[in-house]
Amino acid sequence: MSKFLVTGGAGFIGGNFLHIMVKKYPNDEYVCIDALTYAGNMETLEPILKEKNFKFVHENICNREAVYKLFEEEHFDYVINFAAESHVDRSIENPEIFLKTNILGTQVLLDACRKYGIKRYHQVSTDEVYGDLPLDRPDLFFKEDTPIHTSSPYSASKASADLLVLAYHRTYGLPVTISRCSNNYGPYHFPEKLIPLMIQKALRNEPLPVYGNGANVRDWLYVGDHCNAIDLIVRNGRDGEVYNIGGHNERTNLEVVKTILKALGKPESLITYVKDRPGHDLRYAMDPTKIEKELGWKPEYNFDTGIQVTIKWNLENKKWLEHVESGEYLNWLERQYK
Ligand code: NAD
Ligand code: DAU
Repeated sequence: MSKFLVTGGAGFIGGNFLHIMVKKYPNDEYVCIDALTYAGNMETLEPILKEKNFKFVHENICNREAVYKLFEEEHFDYVINFAAESHVDRSIENPEIFLKTNILGTQVLLDACRKYGIKRYHQVSTDEVYGDLPLDRPDLFFKEDTPIHTSSPYSASKASADLLVLAYHRTYGLPVTISRCSNNYGPYHFPEKLIPLMIQKALRNEPLPVYGNGANVRDWLYVGDHCNAIDLIVRNGRDGEVYNIGGHNERTNLEVVKTILKALGKPESLITYVKDRPGHDLRYAMDPTKIEKELGWKPEYNFDTGIQVTIKWNLENKKWLEHVESGEYLNWLERQYK
């Protein structure tokens, strides 16, 4: 039996991770801490709230005293840090909270791991730390040794956290792993991000705001495949190593939006080109050879199968969407797309 601390579990990927793992490993215990920011939602945890091997603690990872107390009480074996400010556009509007949560919050967790001891600390990171690739070089992919070269305050904060994690490994011998994943999509995705935002807009027959000319490319991975990869790394990965995660599902933003419109039977005339994102990364594309070869990871979904499951989930979970879309999120929509 092992005890896991999962931070940011009331968010999109952490929530999906807990749904899978709490049921898959009934003999392990999962404690989730989440600050319940605008992006965190207790309804996301509803499917596992009553499970005996799951516990929720409402806390901020930057609160050193509270985090230390939790470590002292719970004696964690593994720590998996999903908690973050995750939306690039918000980081452009106001970087500070990104630096606090993504860098200083990570430091608090690393310090707690040093102080109380753990078997492994895992940092959930992103392909965005590598910057972007040109659109006219489809032969290029991010590898684990591609230099860090960030564009947005969000990616700079995630890269800083990665460097800290590796520094704690080298200097203090802390057992750590890092995963860097491409763009996720799937159930419980907050509708500020491209895919769920476009699904909601299309369902309401509202204009779909595509930044620039829609030619930017993202490498889409179904969230469950990301979660399974993290579980493999945490249990079987090598200390001090970085693992790239991605399934070679590159699409331009325009292709993604058109796929959604087609699946929902909506006209392409809903597409509206809006002001581009400052510093907008052109193309992300992962080379997942290392995790495939070393840990035997393979994604179950490709984009065509995953997007259908995702659209269906959005159609069947209107209550969850209505609840997360109320409150602060309305102010964001007004500021970003006015
Ligand atoms: P999300 O924004 O949906 O969820 C983040 C969660 O963290 C929320 O529940 C929020 O309440 C919580 N949180 C924020 N600040 C906190 C704090 N100070 N203390 C405790 N909890 C806090 O994000 P996501 O899309 O689920 O991303 C999870 C992780 O995966 C992030 O680290 C992100 O950088 C990384 N990642 C995301 C993607 C993607 O496509 N979404 C891809 C690769 C990596
Ligand atoms: O690559 C991994 C990253 O993917 C994660 O680290 C981030 O946490 C996650 O938010 C995501 O970042 P992106 O910036 O790629 O995702 P987003 O959904 O915001 O945008 C995807 C693409 O769609 C990007 O090229 C910008 C574009 N876009 C986005 C929005 C919200 C639009 O054209 N219109 C929009 O309204």
